[in-house]
This record gives sequence, structure tokens and C-alpha cells, in this order.
Amino acid sequence: MQEISVFKNKNLKKTPTMPDLEEASRDFKWEDAKKEIECFEDGKMNAAWNVIDVHANGERKNKIALYYEGDDGIIEKFTFGEMSELSNRFANVLKKLGIQRQDRVFYFLSRSPELYVSFLGTLKAGAIAGTLFPAFGDDALRDRLLDSGAKVIVTEGPLKERLYKIRDSLPDLKHIIVVKNGADTSKGEFCYNTEMAAASSYFEIEKMNPEDYSFMLYTSGTTGKPKGVVHAHAGIVQQYLSAKWVLDLQDDDIFWCTADLGWVTGIVYGLLGPWACGTTQVGYGGRFKPEKWYELIQRYKITVWYTAPTAIRMLMAASDDLPKNFDLSSLRHLCSVGEPLNPEGVKWSVEVFGQPFHDTWWQTETGSILITNYPCMPIKFGSMGKLFPGIEAAIIDEAGNPLPQGAEGDLAIKPGWPSMMRTIWKNEARFKEYFRGNWYVTGDTAMIDKDGYFWYVGRADDVIKTSGERVGPFEVESALVEHDAVAEAGVIGKPDELRGNIIKAFVMLKPGFTASDDLKKEIQQFIKGKLAGHAYPREIDFVDSLPKTRSGKIMRRLLKAKELGLPIGDTSTLEND
Ligand code: WTA
Repeated sequence: MQEISVFKNKNLKKTPTMPDLEEASRDFKWEDAKKEIECFEDGKMNAAWNVIDVHANGERKNKIALYYEGDDGIIEKFTFGEMSELSNRFANVLKKLGIQRQDRVFYFLSRSPELYVSFLGTLKAGAIAGTLFPAFGDDALRDRLLDSGAKVIVTEGPLKERLYKIRDSLPDLKHIIVVKNGADTSKGEFCYNTEMAAASSYFEIEKMNPEDYSFMLYTSGTTGKPKGVVHAHAGIVQQYLSAKWVLDLQDDDIFWCTADLGWVTGIVYGLLGPWACGTTQVGYGGRFKPEKWYELIQRYKITVWYTAPTAIRMLMAASDDLPKNFDLSSLRHLCSVGEPLNPEGVKWSVEVFGQPFHDTWWQTETGSILITNYPCMPIKFGSMGKLFPGIEAAIIDEAGNPLPQGAEGDLAIKPGWPSMMRTIWKNEARFKEYFRGNWYVTGDTAMIDKDGYFWYVGRADDVIKTSGERVGPFEVESALVEHDAVAEAGVIGKPDELRGNIIKAFVMLKPGFTASDDLKKEIQQFIKGKLAGHAYPREIDFVDSLPKTRSGKIMRRLLKAKELGLPIGDTSTLEND
């Protein structure tokens, strides 16, 4: 473990919403936290009510909920009152299309005001919302839409063609709504603008049981296709409280979460949690460019900023003088998520912004931040921080027994926190695989030190985190073998200074095909088209054989050890040794 250095931020610009972690954790009960969330009679609720309508019905009606800036530089703004009415209209559009409670409504849409509106409208109608990363290719799209049985898809002109390529394999898909006047009504598509204009801005929100599902999101594991992680309305209790205590959101903050709404960070902290706090958010639909990001902070006077280590490293790699050209003095609290945050990144942010990045740890499955560095607490460089109140965690061994302090092992959480996933869609068996004895097993390995700080060690499985995005090796391998030239493929994450990891593929060609750089490029393009830009192998090695177990499973562990020059370990189950 690296040398520990502790940083106490002396430059706090505000008293944190949580002034003392020990005090907040003492006697903490979820029952008390739930009281901060407004419910209907008989304990019924709807997360969209807590996110938008409570504010629209109160003092924040005319407060800006969203500043949205597109790639084209066009700036739009929406108050809580406007967001409430727009999402009501969308809920009415869904009802008109025959959508029932717990039907699935998916969005294959770039970040745009329509995406926020339709997500909230879906929740209001009692249906289950599902976002899709706009860069998804055919296979990635088909897997998710087929498994979820989505009935409605909201999409946009440029992405529509990708959807039509797989339309025939989606028997449950009933309606396609196209935003920005891109609809071809002769094909039966619905025009978002026309439908919204015709719909009433009044909607009687569906009163849900707290355990009813609100949104679902596909994520990757070591084996199999992406799995549909399902969340419930009740999760908003914790999404709200973590936005308040970890992101430290206060009424006059301007908050910017840089994550796409296709990923869990975008949904939970780029939409739900901060709006449940009544905070003004900035949404940016354009591509990453250091000068653009600094310009946004300056233009909107962003105070709280939530981003990812790869972006931080890219900002660090840009010219040191660049930040000096902007007024970034509005920033008061910075957070990071998705992959290990290097101590250098924290030190750099103190120099450049006068504030440290605070690491936060969580997963698609956990539904909100469970381990973090709070503004009130000294940061140990390189540590993920401490537990969220009400969360019990341990480092456990293979039998499910907690290990002593200081030991490395599997990071596990005691189930039952409000924002925990409720199931894996149509796959209860997959859901059960997450548990060992009384513990939910995260798939990460970690260590807890004597002061209760958590230290990330790595993944216990083969899941790859590349630029903070989660990719399953099986998906990439399956896509690779669909290429005409590929007989077999093994995929690993290879450590990379900028991206955390890159995807590396070992490919065995079919007889008659010859390895070449052109073939590599062709295979890379092929994978981009099937999966997404972030999921293609940046490196490909052509090999004559792949190490396999006697039962025929490719031993990725061995491929990785060889690639990194590490000890190969136990190979007793190897087929071709
Ligand atoms: C990794 C993202 C180190 C981890 C919200 C986890 C992290 C996976 C951190 C979940 C962190 C997330 N330090 N690793 N602070 N935060 N991870 O589902 O491996 O896309 O299991 O959720 O990201 O990724 P997911």
C-alpha cells in the first residue's frame, strides 16, 4: 500500500450538510430518513413526485431545475414548474399509447431535455424507465431491448436507423417516439413535439408501492449477456440523502454531473438525487474538451462538480496553464466516481481548484453511494473513504466470514439498504449469485484500515473498467467471434495510465485468414458497430492458441498474467499445458 498522507481541507467554503460523520451515523435509522421524503396516503409514493413535483408545488416552482447546453451551443433552461408540466405531458402521451404500470419505456437518445422529461414522465405513469447509451451498436441494443421487452422507445433521427436494423427481432416493441421533429409518421412513428403539444399538462401521478420498480439499467458481469439491474421507487430516500450528504448539495448550489444518462451515475446523480434536493443542475450534451469543460464551470458558476478519474487525468494532461484562463472560483466541492482516484489527481485539484476531489464508491447494483470521503472528514490520499450511515460492510473470505481489519478480501455489504437493486430482470438466479451467506458480494476486493477507511484493491472477477465504464469480457468475446475471420477470442483489461484499463483481445484466426494490421482495424471497426466505441479492443494480438480449462473455458487470468509478466499461478486445470 502506498504511503498514507492525510489531507484536511482548510478551504471549506460552507458548513457541510453533514458536519460530523460519527454523529450522523450514531442512532441512524432508515425509518427516520424516510420521513424526509413526501409520501401519499397509505405509504404510497412516486420518486418523480419527490424529484420534481414537490418543488413545483412549493417555493422552488420558478427556480431553475436545469440549464441544458447542447453540442450546438444552444442553451435552454427549465424551472421545476416547467419540468413538472412537461413530464406530466409525457406521462399523458404514454397513457394514450396504452402504457400500463410497470411496462418498460426505453430511451435511445443523446442527452437532451427530452431525455430528462421522458424519464420523469415514465416514472409518473408508473412504468419502468430504461436509458441506453447512445453509442450502442446493434448487438448491445438488441440484447437490452429484447430482454427488457420494452414497449415504447424514444429516439432521435440520427439513431433511428440503428434501431430499425434490429426492429424485427423485438416482438414487444409497440411504439417509436422520435424527438425534434424527426418522425416519419408514414412508418407509424410518433412525433414527440406533436404528441407533447396535444397532451394535457395535468396528470394524476400514479401512486406506487415503494417496492414497485422505477428504473432498470443493464450492466456487465464476467459471464453472460448484460443483466438488467432493477431499482424501486423506495431508492429515492437514499439517492436524496446521499446527494445531500456526499455531494453536499445546498439550496444555492449549481451542480454538474458529467456522466451520460445512459449510465447509473447519470441517472442517480445527474437527475434523481440532486433534484430530490431541489438543486439546479447543468446538463451538457457535447463532447469532452478541457477548454469547454472549464468554460461551462465559468459560465454557469458551477459550485459542486461530480466527474470521473479518466476525465480528471485528461484534464491533468491538458496544458497546466489552461485553467488559469478561466474563472473557476465558484467551485466549492468536487467528487469523483467509477474507478480508483489516484492521489495525484487529488493533489492536482487542490493546486488548480483549491479543492480536493472526494472519491465516492458505488455500483449500478447499489443504486447510490455507499463509501465516500465526506467534506467534513480528512481525506487519506488513495482511500475511497468511509461508509454511508446505515450501511454495514465487511471484507469477507470465500466462506462468507468477515476478515480482520487490514486484510484484503471481497468487499461485501449487508443487504437491505433502500436503494439496493431489487432483482435482475427475468433472472432471479443471476440475482441470487450476488449473495454469499448474509452478504451481498460486490465483485470488488478491498481492505479496511484501523480508522475505518476503505481501500480499493481491484476486481475479484474479469469485469473491465475502461475510462470508468463497465465492460464484460464475454460480450466482447461473443462479438469478436461473430467476425468472419475470428475462430476464438479471449479478452482482458490491460492497465493504462490514462483510461485505467484498455480492452485487449487475443484472437485466434480461422484457417485461411492471415494476421495483418488491416485485419486488426477491420475487427476493431466491427466491434464498435456491434457494441459501442468504449467497448472495442484497443489492442489485438493474434495468437495460435488460447489457454483453456479442461472444460473449455478460456483462462483470462492466464492471458492477463502473461501480458503483465506476473506469476502464472495455479494451472492445474489447464487443458493445453
Ligand atoms: C468500480 C459506477 C474504485 C468498482 C457508479 C465497482 C470504483 C464498479 C469506484 C461499479 C471507486 C466504482 N474506486 N473503483 N471510487 N467507484 N468503482 O456499476 O469496480 O458502472 O464495482 O457503477 O466500478 O461500476 P458501475
